[in-house]
Amino acid sequence: MNEQADTAAASQFVVTSNHGFAAYAQDELRALVPGTKFEPLITDETYLMRIPLDREAAIRRITSHEPIFLRHMHPIDRTVGTSGTAEDVSLLADLAGQLFLDGFDGEIGKVTVQIRKAERYESEYSPAELREAISGVLLERCGVESVVKEADRIVSVFLSSGAAYIGVSASADNLSDWPGGAVRYRKEEGQVSRAKFKLLEAEYAFGLELSRFRKALDIGAAPGGWTSLLLERGAEVTAVDPADLHPDLLGHPQLTYLKRNAGEVAFRSASYDLLVCDMSWSPKQMIKLILPLLDALRPGGAAVITLKLMHGKPFQTVKDSVRMMQPVMQLRKAKQLFHNRDELTVYLQKIN
Ligand SMILES: C[S@@+](CC[C@H](N)C(=O)[O-])C[C@H]1O[C@@H](n2cnc3c(N)ncnc32)[C@H](O)[C@@H]1O
Repeated sequence: MNEQADTAAASQFVVTSNHGFAAYAQDELRALVPGTKFEPLITDETYLMRIPLDREAAIRRITSHEPIFLRHMHPIDRTVGTSGTAEDVSLLADLAGQLFLDGFDGEIGKVTVQIRKAERYESEYSPAELREAISGVLLERCGVESVVKEADRIVSVFLSSGAAYIGVSASADNLSDWPGGAVRYRKEEGQVSRAKFKLLEAEYAFGLELSRFRKALDIGAAPGGWTSLLLERGAEVTAVDPADLHPDLLGHPQLTYLKRNAGEVAFRSASYDLLVCDMSWSPKQMIKLILPLLDALRPGGAAVITLKLMHGKPFQTVKDSVRMMQPVMQLRKAKQLFHNRDELTVYLQKIN
């Protein structure tokens, strides 16, 4: 079926990107489905998207060509006028309950309720109160208890001045099961660096099971957040960095630390099944350093690399970087993660 030919169909979504990167997501979405339009809800971050495809066709098209800069989306099943008074709470809870029941087949599994609001949106009730009211209705009418994480279905409400956008969707259709794709990990005691969150999020966003990798090479590893996660997942890790690794990591029986520049090290062919690099450098220079090390990766092995966005040309940066590695590596997915700032993350696989 040619989805774009169905010009009569249209649907709406609330779409979110990292702050300042929404214009790139919009370019990607317009290229995917010409005629798609946007209206701001949170400046440079969250938009109301009108797309000339029906809801299911739009979800299929977007999830099968996932835009790099689109962090989250939720389909809008109903838009209702709101007053900001307590009356909204019963109105929205009732409507959310109805929408949920419409798709209820008795086997829905776990559900979560996510409430977000536009900047400067004021109401007499808090998002937490609204979430509680909706959860209460879901329990009462469907016997479904709401959970905080790992839900199968999501009831989403976005509150903006004068209107609320409500949708009920499968978690996978939202691209992320975190509200607005804002992945919040709890900082652990003794955590080596916040950078660890980037690799944790990459594991989730790329569907990687890090515990499958037995031998990992971490280039630009200090102070050691990524290395610590790989060690936790059970890998033997070689960490390369002229800077100091966190003292807590030194002496770990699975760790080899080479206090050297990436240009000064070499490894046995096909001896690693994962290479990670978070060097925060010019992508071109960084990939020049990585290229000779790719021989150390076994065929089918994976690489997770952070690409810094230097001059505001992200699509060209991805293209050029991947092209440099192309004779041996294939791009699996590129994504700007919530924990990426002026950068994005690529996941590649070595060609067999
Ligand atoms: C953003 S930090 C990495 C953070 C790390 N992923 C973590 O989780 O703690 C970048 C690191 O790259 C290292 N680096 C920069 N140039 C390098 C090179 N040519 N060879 C090896 N490491 C390099 C820096 O010393 C720095 O420690």
